[in-house]
Amino acid sequence: MVSKTGVLFVCLGNICRSPLAEGIFRNQIRARGIDHRFDVDSCGTGSWHRGEPADSRSIAVGSKYGLAINHRARSFSHPSDSDRFRWLIAMDRSNVRNLIKAGAPESSIRLIRSFDPATIGKKDLDVPDPYSGDDGGFEVVYHMLAAACGGLVEFLIDELES
Ligand code: 4NP
Repeated sequence: MVSKTGVLFVCLGNICRSPLAEGIFRNQIRARGIDHRFDVDSCGTGSWHRGEPADSRSIAVGSKYGLAINHRARSFSHPSDSDRFRWLIAMDRSNVRNLIKAGAPESSIRLIRSFDPATIGKKDLDVPDPYSGDDGGFEVVYHMLAAACGGLVEFLIDELES
């Protein structure tokens, strides 16, 4: 059996950005025929929304682009998630700080937009939190995440082949 690479998408509430990133990533690896090589999930560093479905606006924008988002929110747990997932893919710098505070190894943490070829080298790599904004914010976030996930998939394919 080939071992699977663990990829965990992390935001604050696990209802807006990270479930959308997870859905986009799942679709992209399925399209490339490599989904069996990955163990994928998402979580939040906060626990307010534990057990809830994704925000209806994330579900709606996902559905517009052909994604079915069935995730239930859960919070990050160290050491179990740090052991299970090789990569902890954070949406913004506050998520990174929270992961480090929770005990996650810094060497596993990456900002998702650091994989977008168009944003490499840019200073602000945060995916903005769309929770308190309007539906347009979710559309912007969708496109940011789709571009970043594309780069992440290429990175992981290189890693599989090396
Ligand atoms: P997310 O967005 O981190 O992208 O899921 C948020 C959802 C809820 C809250 C904050 C951010 N909240 O404070 O409840």
